[in-house]
Amino acid sequence: MQTLTVGLAERSYPIHVGGGLSGDSKLLAAATSARDVLLISNTVVAPLYAERVRNALAGRNVVEAILPDGEQHKSLGTAEKVFDVLIANRFGRDAAVLALGGGVVGDLAGFVAACYQRGIDFIQVPTTLLADVDSSVGGKTAVNHPAAKNMIGAFHQPKAVVIDTDLLRTLPDREIQAGIAEIIKYGLICDVGFLEWLEKNMTKMLARDPAALEQAILRSCQIKADIVARDEREHGDRALLNLGHTFGHAIEAATRYVGWLHGEAVGAGLLIATDMSHRMGMLAAGDVSRVKALLNAAGLRTEPPRIGAAAALDFMRIDKKVQSGRIRLVLLKRLGAACMLADYPDQILSETLTAHFGA
Ligand code: NAD
Ligand code: GLY
Repeated sequence: MQTLTVGLAERSYPIHVGGGLSGDSKLLAAATSARDVLLISNTVVAPLYAERVRNALAGRNVVEAILPDGEQHKSLGTAEKVFDVLIANRFGRDAAVLALGGGVVGDLAGFVAACYQRGIDFIQVPTTLLADVDSSVGGKTAVNHPAAKNMIGAFHQPKAVVIDTDLLRTLPDREIQAGIAEIIKYGLICDVGFLEWLEKNMTKMLARDPAALEQAILRSCQIKADIVARDEREHGDRALLNLGHTFGHAIEAATRYVGWLHGEAVGAGLLIATDMSHRMGMLAAGDVSRVKALLNAAGLRTEPPRIGAAAALDFMRIDKKVQSGRIRLVLLKRLGAACMLADYPDQILSETLTAHFGA
């Protein structure tokens, strides 16, 4: 097992990474002493892994809330049902929530923990690669509004993140690829050496080589932990973690959140951001080909639906980075160095969108 720390003074917490950790009662005991624990999972993950987590919580009062699977259930309606369970079981302020699942379960469980009695303890046991490297770390919790994703939420840091790499064995290939998109993102925003490592190790990662996956998870979590420690509430650097997301959001929204997984849309968005950075003179054409080759090596699609540039721009306007009506974009100064820009030429954005989404 390896342990990293998200350094947030009295709210600092560990990220444990290793095989078999979801059944480790000592780790869970160190994360929370709560007697009452609400284990939140979904209908796909719970039959696979809830029992081992329950066993690791032996001696406590464990109640389960098993959600239907899917992004459409990351809603206020689902959260309300979970609040009902907490109240029906008379859980108090000293209770804890344990999220066992991917980003959907983790975001919703974190939101519930943030709101219930104004905030109770919360532990993340992520089960997808995307959740391992991104959503379980950093305390962004949310549910979706019918009009836009992640619009209702709170910052609420977990007490611990317990990443059990064994759980990735049952994850479908497509979900592994979606997680790799977020991993590539870390290399692009701040670590060109990691990008090179990914180029060399992509085959191993796709084959789920445990050592390669663990190394990629550790490096990704370290990068995210460092950024969150510097800028927990996204007043600055944390926004760089959204590289590719504003473009990816247009893809997800245009396809009504079916057809493209979040990580897949981010992958295609990474290429669009790279291409726009090239069009602005910050990257060479060879850098764009290199990023496309890496995404394709990960099995990721890089051609968004041909919805047209105007429609793509409309979707991009519903973004939390919009300030005074202006879409702020995360772009690349060079491979391994991202920046946030509001004063890009509109003409270049328009050309980029036309190249990728059609006229
Ligand atoms: P997900 O939670 O929907 O999981 C993907 C699929 O894999 C689901 O069908 C799930 O049931 C299944 N699954 C999960 N673990 C499994 C396992 N071990 N074996 C077999 N099947 C398994 O999707 P995701 O990609 O993990 O998360 C996407 C969500 O995360 C989005 O809602 C996105 O907004 C959010 N997100 C949040 C943050 C953040 O900082 N909070 C960051 C990135 C993404
Ligand atoms: N996934 C982006 C963030 O956590 O800030």
